[in-house]
Amino acid sequence: MSLPNMPSSKLSEHGSRAFESVSICHESDVCLLVLQVQHAAQHLGFNVVMATQLSTVASELAMNIVKYAGRGDVSWGQCEGAGRSGFELWAIDQGPGMADVALALSEHYSSRGTLGLGLPGTRRLVDEFSIDSQPGKGTRICIRKWLRR
Ligand SMILES: Nc1ncnc2c1ncn2[C@@H]1O[C@H](COP(=O)(O)OP(=O)(O)OP(=O)(O)O)[C@@H](O)[C@H]1O
Ligand SMILES: [Mg+2]
Repeated sequence: MSLPNMPSSKLSEHGSRAFESVSICHESDVCLLVLQVQHAAQHLGFNVVMATQLSTVASELAMNIVKYAGRGDVSWGQCEGAGRSGFELWAIDQGPGMADVALALSEHYSSRGTLGLGLPGTRRLVDEFSIDSQPGKGTRICIRKWLRR
């Protein structure tokens, strides 16, 4: 899977503006994040259903940060491409990373005995999903969802 650049370089490529960002280290951070992403997505023009899909994605990725990495950052903002506008979100941590990314993305795989639906579910809810994860180096996930015209 492709490795996207950090938000700053991606922003300059799209000529967009600075992303909002929050540190994630506790479930309470995830609750606040969900509200912020829902609000930001609706502010950018997504309807309630699509904004809820985005806040669900943010919740799944941030909960994974809490569960597997302990701490990390989630940032989000508007993206532009091919004459359309969308929502871009990054979940970045310096945790243990994944030994087998394909396995982690597969349906019902969980190293903690839970449902194993967070990552595959996230992929279904977005238009673009990219991940870079390496053992000992952490995990960076970027998603994009485009506004329907
Ligand atoms: N940020 C991360 N760092 C390291 N490993 C991760 C990270 N996120 C996910 N993983 C690994 O990928 C697996 C699958 O993640 P996924 O979110 O799909 O399922 P889950 O968290 O185990 O269960 P669920 O999200 O359904 O409660 C995890 O069990 C874990 O092994
Ligand atoms: Mg999960």
